Amino acid sequence: MKKILVTGGAGFIGSHVVRQFVNKYREYHIFNLDKLTYAGNLENLTDTDKAPNYTFIKGDICDAEFIQNLFSVHRFDGVIHLAAESHVDRSITNPMEFVQTNVIGTVTLLNAFKSFCNKDSAIFYHVSTDEVYGELSDEGKFTETTSYSPNSPYSASKASSDHFVRAYHETYGIQIRISNCSNNYGSHHFPEKLIPLMINNILNKKPLPVYGRGENVRDWLFVEDHAKAIDTIFHNGRNGETYNIGGNNEWKNIDLVKLLCNQMDEKLGNPNNTSSQLISYVTDRAGHDFRYAIDSSKLMNELGWNPSVTFEQGLSKTIDWYLANKTWLDHVTSGAYQKYYEQMYK
Ligand code: NAD
Ligand code: TYD
Repeated sequence: MKKILVTGGAGFIGSHVVRQFVNKYREYHIFNLDKLTYAGNLENLTDTDKAPNYTFIKGDICDAEFIQNLFSVHRFDGVIHLAAESHVDRSITNPMEFVQTNVIGTVTLLNAFKSFCNKDSAIFYHVSTDEVYGELSDEGKFTETTSYSPNSPYSASKASSDHFVRAYHETYGIQIRISNCSNNYGSHHFPEKLIPLMINNILNKKPLPVYGRGENVRDWLFVEDHAKAIDTIFHNGRNGETYNIGGNNEWKNIDLVKLLCNQMDEKLGNPNNTSSQLISYVTDRAGHDFRYAIDSSKLMNELGWNPSVTFEQGLSKTIDWYLANKTWLDHVTSGAYQKYYEQMYK
């Protein structure tokens, strides 16, 4: 039985990746290694945690001794690395935590992988972001050959970890894949990011903080389509290659927030425009990237991946999940979240 390590599997995207692999590949044993930071939550995996081919391990990817021991015991056949600090606003307040987890943590994993995993067959897959490419103006899209030009401490840390993964491939001959994906949305998304934060605030009739003039553009992808892309690239991607993943689905923030307000009003039975009256323009984010857009044609043409849902369908499914899982939302927004929210949006 093949042993696959997913790091950060208790987070938003990681939990969807764990679910995809545990359910689809009964011939694999999936180990989920997660530190359970504020963003990691075992309630994201209540439908999976009893599966016979699944094991959760609590641990820190920066703890070199622990990681070396873990790899020496299991000699994993594959690593799908998602553990990271992932929120741009937090990286502006506390960049060092991003260097620690995203850079040092990744190199710690690479060292253990190179020491204990089979060089000819084992794969180290790094899940990364399109933000490493910097920002676009109104024209063009990021391709796999776009130069790296990260603007936030978050994207700089992810760019650095991408470089380390590629350098270990060149220097030590380990087998790697890297994917750079656009903004995800879907169930189990922590309400610090735009879409779940707005859903939570609409439910609580709180102001909807739109940064600057709301003109910034993001390319949104349904998280289950990202998990399927990772599955496809892990199994069929070429050694040493990078694949861009995007939804071909660009939205100005303000238009997205208005669409979300309309869908929420309809589902909650509110009169039209109830929620959009909560929109409040606030001070812009420092160094706010203007536009992201991804050209995924390499992944589509070479490996046959395509997004499965339209944005309207995906958003509707996402809202339905939050409406049906208010306890999940209550749990993640109690305690430390309150302090974060006050400091961030005071
Ligand atoms: P997330 O913040 O929801 O989850 C991160 C997970 O990593 C959490 O479970 C957390 O507990 C765990 N973690 C953090 N530090 C750790 C450590 N030191 N050791 C072990 N576990 C640790 O993040 P996400 O949105 O699910 O993103 C997952 C990955 O995908 C990240 O690498 C991110 O850069 C990348 N990515 C995210 C997006 C997006 O839109 N969210 C888009 C493209 C790429
Ligand atoms: P976010 O979800 O933080 O993702 P990223 O910064 O990685 O793209 O933000 C998405 C967009 O929404 C980004 O342009 C910033 C904007 N935004 C707001 O306008 N208000 C908010 O409260 C948040 C969290 C984000």
